[in-house]
Amino acid sequence: MKEIGVALIGYNFMGRAHSNAYRQVKPFFEPRLRPRLKVLCGRNAAAVAEAAGRLGFEESATDWREVIGRKDIGLVDICTPSDSHAEIAIAAARAGKAVLCEKPLANSVKDAQAMLQAAARANVVHMVCHNYRRAPAVMLARRIIEEGRLGRIHHYRGAYLQDWLVDPAFPLTWRLRKEVAGSGALGDLAAHSIDLARFLVGEITEVTAALETFVKERPLPGQPKKKGKVTVDDAAAAVVRFANGALGTIEATRMAPGRKNHNRFEINGSLGSVAFDLERLNELQVFFRSDPGDVQGFRTVLATEADHHAYVKAWWPPGHALGYEHTFVHTVYDLLEAIADHKVPRPSFADGLANQQVLAAMEKAARTKRWVQV
Ligand SMILES: NC(=O)c1ccc[n+]([C@@H]2O[C@H](COP(=O)([O-])OP(=O)(O)OC[C@H]3O[C@@H](n4cnc5c(N)ncnc54)[C@H](O)[C@@H]3O)[C@@H](O)[C@H]2O)c1
Repeated sequence: MKEIGVALIGYNFMGRAHSNAYRQVKPFFEPRLRPRLKVLCGRNAAAVAEAAGRLGFEESATDWREVIGRKDIGLVDICTPSDSHAEIAIAAARAGKAVLCEKPLANSVKDAQAMLQAAARANVVHMVCHNYRRAPAVMLARRIIEEGRLGRIHHYRGAYLQDWLVDPAFPLTWRLRKEVAGSGALGDLAAHSIDLARFLVGEITEVTAALETFVKERPLPGQPKKKGKVTVDDAAAAVVRFANGALGTIEATRMAPGRKNHNRFEINGSLGSVAFDLERLNELQVFFRSDPGDVQGFRTVLATEADHHAYVKAWWPPGHALGYEHTFVHTVYDLLEAIADHKVPRPSFADGLANQQVLAAMEKAARTKRWVQV
């Protein structure tokens, strides 16, 4: 059994999700290429050493630059805030390593282009982590659409709603600073809705949008009496047109009380509809106009059948539901198989770049109050 050494950079929220995925993928999916958790990279030596032990890494390091060139590293996994994605990914690609990068791919179209170019030139495998594609219910929605069972697609309605910023006392962390995060709810949440829109409906060609920052100043982290300026959006709302003629809306906010991780889409076609909500991620709502009139209605499909639903056969019997973390296991499994075949999986850096172009068009549309071509 072949192994690939993994260096993972950034070990808080996403770092934990990814390291868990490498651990789980081995016993459940038995990939041809087995991930070996070699080095966890952070910035604080004591903290990263403690985390490395807890998360199952052999070593820890405080400078990713000293790690990515190592012979025993084959895959560099970037779980840092988006201002460092481009520098790390380009260096890793030039060192000949496969790269998995968290979303949004970068903070600008220019950086995203440079990342794709570096990965393509070095002929390395690259992937951006839009993990929600790999929820079995989302894969089912894609299959229903691909098989034409919804007919011609008219509407995509995407909303990604959270509520953790509604308290004005929430501190000015990196996600509220443009120089680190690039944008607010837009790059953080709408990026996922854009990826799902591209995955399920197709390319977005034209957008118009509005951005809003409701709380303009927030307390500095660790200094509750001092305030700093919020330089990103709290909320984004966009209307989009697709190449295939469909019309869509995409809304993202971190100020919707009661909505915790409400990543929802509804797609309406000439023959029926599908709807998904991440807070009920094992389910897909399905409506077919061809059903007999007296029993027509949205049905709830529990996407946990090994014979019908992607990834499920590696896990549990029907109805033994999956969770958020499984979407990362599925992502990592497909990445490892792609590396074994030396093929670029989706979503690739090209998808990350396309996503970035939509984000940039939405920012421009909000600024100019016009429709913008992507
Ligand atoms: N796919 C998803 O569903 C999803 C969910 C949340 C976050 N994300 C993305 O994951 C990335 C990280 O987000 P998070 O929520 O884990 O952030 P976080 O703040 O929880 O963790 C970031 C980590 O990166 C470390 N770090 C920062 N700069 C570093 C450097 N130069 N070298 C080494 N370590 C460094 C920090 O110390 C911290 O441990 C972001 O791009 C974010 O958009 C994706």
